[in-house]
Amino acid sequence: MGEDLIERLCTSIQNNESMLISDLMIFIEGVAQRSFPIDDIEKWLRCVHSNGISVDETTALTRGMMESGAVLEWQGTANVVDKHSTGGVGDKMSLILAPALAACGLRVPMLAGRGLGHTGGTIDKLEAIPGFNCNLTPLQMQAAVEQVGCCIAAQNDAIAPADGLLYAIRDVTNTVDSIPLITASIVSKKAAEGLNALVLDVKCGNAAFMKTEQEAVALAESMVGAAKGLGIDTVAQITDMNEPIGTHIGNSLEVLGSVYVLRGKGSTDTRDLVALQGGQLLALTGISSSLESGIKMILEVLGNGKALHCFIEMCVQQGTEREVAEQLALNPEHVLPKSEHITVLLAPETGYIQSIDAMALAEVARELGAGRFVMSDHINHSIGYVLESSRNQHLKKGQPWISVHHDHELSSQHLSRLRDALQIASEQPAEFQRLIRIIT
Ligand code: URA
Repeated sequence: MGEDLIERLCTSIQNNESMLISDLMIFIEGVAQRSFPIDDIEKWLRCVHSNGISVDETTALTRGMMESGAVLEWQGTANVVDKHSTGGVGDKMSLILAPALAACGLRVPMLAGRGLGHTGGTIDKLEAIPGFNCNLTPLQMQAAVEQVGCCIAAQNDAIAPADGLLYAIRDVTNTVDSIPLITASIVSKKAAEGLNALVLDVKCGNAAFMKTEQEAVALAESMVGAAKGLGIDTVAQITDMNEPIGTHIGNSLEVLGSVYVLRGKGSTDTRDLVALQGGQLLALTGISSSLESGIKMILEVLGNGKALHCFIEMCVQQGTEREVAEQLALNPEHVLPKSEHITVLLAPETGYIQSIDAMALAEVARELGAGRFVMSDHINHSIGYVLESSRNQHLKKGQPWISVHHDHELSSQHLSRLRDALQIASEQPAEFQRLIRIIT
């Protein structure tokens, strides 16, 4: 029976005909219940990966995967929102965005992942905070959001369980990079949060999974189409991921950088990107009349301490002792894990920073312990960088440009790769724009 079903599904895909939606639903249910042989699932995945499927089929697949597990339900006003980022270097937005949106009156039941490849993961960053528990059940997520307006929980098998198995098989069959499969995987989990609005940060460039703008736009259009097909008001922002985001990179250091921004200070690059994402969600839900006024609202709650207050309450709600959470807000350096050594690298010549290679920084940080190579690797939360400079800035020879936080001695190879990550030019380069375009 399973074999016939897979045969029918694959024949339709290969002949460029629509799959029978009822067959597709039986397939997804079988995947969620682990009742299909892995070989059959592999066959279907390879078929979708090689041939592609239509927008309607992608939406149906996404819906089926969403319905394969718990779907959060919300009472009252339509103000449940979230953001998904395709992953970057220094991408700490969720830690700031969730409490900032809660401070503006939105509800944010955020599901997040661990680091993937060279990119950091929100859950790994939050686990640098003493006591912070990301393992929430759907009921605990709902309770946390009703209590403090937001929560950030690790993806788990209660939500979209079909994705758990499909993703694991994609990973070992080289079928990860398929736009319909990525779309269904990401959007099904977001849709299961019971969202009214979603903003997608689709990154492109050297340190992103999508290297070109064209690839990023294709993924963004597919995800916006599927999410809208499920009734979620969605906008994608295509952003540049060649330069690292903000000043802090690495798990513990990104929490530190986030607290600075939540205190109304810190990196303007980070603050501007949070405001852009948050402003978009405020506009989509009608809390603000436009993107511009939404951006203003986010900047306001970052400046007046309301977002920081929601961050403290989120930490307490998720297991951190109140005293520790309050210390984290006041003196984050005293609460977060620290590396044994800090090595400061100096500019080799005078000039303007033409670029800082985010991918090179990420790869070295991963090798120093900030990321994983296999799922069972342990992360060292204290490893990372503080950038003392950014693209376009003028540097004098001998001026610090980056502090490397590490536990083991840096090898000459690591040092040379880090030094090569900085490109200095005599002419000032064109102004750097993080936002490339918006897809609605
Ligand atoms: N993240 C996901 O959750 N799924 C994908 O397919 C890719 C990235």
